[in-house]
Amino acid sequence: MIKRRKLGKVGPEVSALGYGCMGISANYGPAMERSAGIAMIRAAVERGVTFFDTAEAYGPFTNEEVVGAALAPFRDEVVIATKFGFGINPDGTRYGLDSRPEHIREVAEASLRRLKVEAIDLLYQHRVDPKVPIEDVAGAVRDLIGQGKVKHFGLSEAGAATIRRAHSVQAVAAVQSEYSLWTRDPEQNGVLAACEALGIGFVPFSPLGAGFLTGKIAADTEFHSTDFRNLSPRFAPEARGVNLALVDVLNRLGAEQGATPAQLALAWLLAQKPWIVPIPGTCKVARLEENLGAAAIEFTAADVREIEEAASNIVIQGARLPEQVLRLSEC
Ligand SMILES: NC(=O)c1ccc[n+]([C@@H]2O[C@H](COP(=O)([O-])OP(=O)(O)OC[C@H]3O[C@@H](n4cnc5c(N)ncnc54)[C@H](OP(=O)(O)O)[C@@H]3O)[C@@H](O)[C@H]2O)c1
Repeated sequence: MIKRRKLGKVGPEVSALGYGCMGISANYGPAMERSAGIAMIRAAVERGVTFFDTAEAYGPFTNEEVVGAALAPFRDEVVIATKFGFGINPDGTRYGLDSRPEHIREVAEASLRRLKVEAIDLLYQHRVDPKVPIEDVAGAVRDLIGQGKVKHFGLSEAGAATIRRAHSVQAVAAVQSEYSLWTRDPEQNGVLAACEALGIGFVPFSPLGAGFLTGKIAADTEFHSTDFRNLSPRFAPEARGVNLALVDVLNRLGAEQGATPAQLALAWLLAQKPWIVPIPGTCKVARLEENLGAAAIEFTAADVREIEEAASNIVIQGARLPEQVLRLSEC
């Protein structure tokens, strides 16, 4: 059984590693068949995962439906997190960000229906909407909590000041932002410090660097035409050539520890703070098992120092996301 962790002071207790459901339906090429997606999520449940991450935007809509169908028989054993915040028309086309309180209420109702639950365990704002004061967003979620439709409030890719303002209206249980051995921003931009000070749990997304830190992506690996990594400056061929030096480090140190690069990357995150719960995603059961193996690894402080020293010698080339997507983060 996987160890458990508590997501901050007010958040739920969950398996130390969650499961990111996005790749089943979006962003990494064609969606899985619905039945295969359901089987994948249930494989995670069978292996002790109790924390599942989805969003209205994944698909859009279809990922929540798959998650709802997969987890219905296990409702009382699992914690389901979803997200609002993009403007998405019924036909799936997008119109930017939309965290107007009336829109939050509509999206929450739709997510409840698709997830087939009476309450959303953890509802994140997916991206901060500069047009809507964060106090109004937190107030809208506070009302949903008061009505029993939502249990906990979260923010994704929010800056430290925004987290503090939101928390003063409605306690934030968890912040979800990109964090991994090649994306150290939350250490530098005050987000992890704010979480620590306020007792908020932290959920690193893309904890495997969108697959790069697993060692399975080579300089010449080609992605499906709909895979978002084609647009990520970090995955551009020249940048990838340089960045593979980090994978060499993970391979070398992993061999010393008896761990795969993916396990090393996840165990390093788990070693940062006891209130951190990464949510790696995969569409393959063997990789799920490999990733969950990281929860059993316990690094000493010297191990962590060695990883960080070796990683710090490598200057990562290229931004993590395209400029126009990055602009949505850290408001
Ligand atoms: N809040 C946000 O804005 C946001 C943004 C992005 C993601 N997320 C959440 O975070 C979750 C995880 O992030 P992510 O999926 O982007 O990135 P990730 O977990 O870092 O990496 C996923 C990629 O790595 C591959 N992979 C996973 N385990 C592997 C292993 N052991 N060996 C080799 N390859 C492996 C997967 O391919 P295969 O499927 O082929 O194994 C997939 O391409 C998502 O599912 C989503 O729920 C949130």
